Amino acid sequence: MILHALVSVGHFIAAFALVAALVAEWTMLRGRVDGAVIERLLRADLIYGLSAITVLAFGLCRVFFFDKPAAYYLHSVPFWAKLVLFAVIGLLSIAPTLALFRARRAARVDVNYVMAASEMGMLRRRVSIELMLLALVLLAASLTAKGVGLLD
Ligand code: HEM
Repeated sequence: MILHALVSVGHFIAAFALVAALVAEWTMLRGRVDGAVIERLLRADLIYGLSAITVLAFGLCRVFFFDKPAAYYLHSVPFWAKLVLFAVIGLLSIAPTLALFRARRAARVDVNYVMAASEMGMLRRRVSIELMLLALVLLAASLTAKGVGLLD
């Protein structure tokens, strides 16, 4: 029982950390994004990546060892929707991560480097979309738990 609660809490904390990291990135993507800001963005991006791995690991533990039987989740449409959304969010985050690494390289060569407004706009849009999709993940999580959309 205690282990079950700890796994659930691990899942929640990782999910909160993931959202917090994304919000931090979103707030940093405005104004003058220079080398120092890029380093902070990359740190937030690392926390985001580690949180995503942790949320997935605890989520899989919940599916296969805790909560309802695994068959319940495999027959739940909202659960599959949640996994697809989670994968889409992960895919959407690849380009921003690569852009941040490129920006770090450029900033190391040129101390006066400032990220172009167009690139910053792209990153901000991506992060905004990821945050919106995360709201849908929460909806899917809640529907899964309540047994809505269960196939026989
Ligand atoms: C960022 C991604 C995720 C977020 C924000 C998230 C959020 C949540 C939330 C809020 C709940 C509680 C729902 C409720 O009790 O009303 C939950 C439950 C759960 N999540 Fe996640 N989750 C995420 C990813 C995943 C992944 C990737 C998996 C599986 C691989 C997973 C598996 C589960 C399971 C099995 C439950 C228990 C559902 C039940 O009570 O029957 N989650 N999640």
